Amino acid sequence: MLKNFWYACEFSSAVTSKPKRVSLLNQDFVLYRNSNKEVVALKDQCPHRGAALSNGWVEKDCIRCPYHGWKFQTDGTCIQIPANQPGVPIPKKARIDTYPVQEKYGFVWLFWGDLAEQKRPPLPSLTEFDAPGWRVVSGELQWNAHYTRVLENVIDFSHVAFIHANSFGSGIADQPQIENYDVCLEEWSASATVTANQSKKTKGFWKHFLNKQGSRPLSVTLSFYMPNISRLEFDFPIGHFKMILFSSHLPIDDKTTVSKWIVLRNFLTAPWADGDARKRALKTMLEDKPIVESQSPQVIPDDLTAELHVPSDALSIAYRKLHKQCLEMGWGMEHHVSQLHDSNNHISEHFQILTNSLIS
Ligand code: FES
Ligand SMILES: [Fe+2]
Repeated sequence: MLKNFWYACEFSSAVTSKPKRVSLLNQDFVLYRNSNKEVVALKDQCPHRGAALSNGWVEKDCIRCPYHGWKFQTDGTCIQIPANQPGVPIPKKARIDTYPVQEKYGFVWLFWGDLAEQKRPPLPSLTEFDAPGWRVVSGELQWNAHYTRVLENVIDFSHVAFIHANSFGSGIADQPQIENYDVCLEEWSASATVTANQSKKTKGFWKHFLNKQGSRPLSVTLSFYMPNISRLEFDFPIGHFKMILFSSHLPIDDKTTVSKWIVLRNFLTAPWADGDARKRALKTMLEDKPIVESQSPQVIPDDLTAELHVPSDALSIAYRKLHKQCLEMGWGMEHHVSQLHDSNNHISEHFQILTNSLIS
């Protein structure tokens, strides 16, 4: 797991003036809205006896612990200890850690790390979210898997002809080859565009979008944004129909990930089509789930030579390289740091040349 990033940790609509627990990075946080509707984020642990503040309540922007009633301001300072006699001072250490938050694209983003504000990696861009003509639905799914495996699954097109052979991949199930593609690398992200010629008739719902004779092939732009955001943009062979799946794969702990996702579409934008859009996104992820949960080791290896790579894996190699770079900058949280030290000794010169050539 990596520090120093903004994590899209909850949907904005789920955060109200009632305290809500959010778990990520092996920790618990409590979120609530103050009277200005701004989101406040605190560690979900009272400094007195460790009770979860998320079971408490909000009073005039402050949060009250449900155990002995200590009251904390939005900056984490304790301002009242009900059991104290008048005049007994409040200990200086009676305060809770607070975290920077911002809201964008329907998510609350929490920053966890030690970088000054100007040095923090920015949020990814998703201009379609506020653009006219797009309709958004959202959902979430829990995986018994490490977030790095979940993210890699989403940005990997070569599994579509297999795992999704009976759904949106049915048109390419008999021709799984992926043409070589270029990876466009940026400071915190990378993307690649692949095209899929439908050799067979696609079944079900997808046939309306993919079976147009003589039209251009389906084009999919796959991107990731460090450390846990994926974005798939489907450019359909008809008109200017597009669909974007933007997901935050939240690292809950080393074995659990919750993907909070939004699907944006610029066709069938009436509300009656929302349920179907949501159902199809979820169905696709449920097809991936048992395979991703079966992967071993659970976390992607920091040693690039530990698994085998072929040209269609170029985008995932880009992710592994950026991930490793973050670890080398000291942004890894404990578990990863020790793994990095083990693996550093094993990187062969030959493999570095191979991956450089795939990525450059
Ligand atoms: S545990 Fe919170 S007030 Fe005692
Ligand atoms: Fe998939």
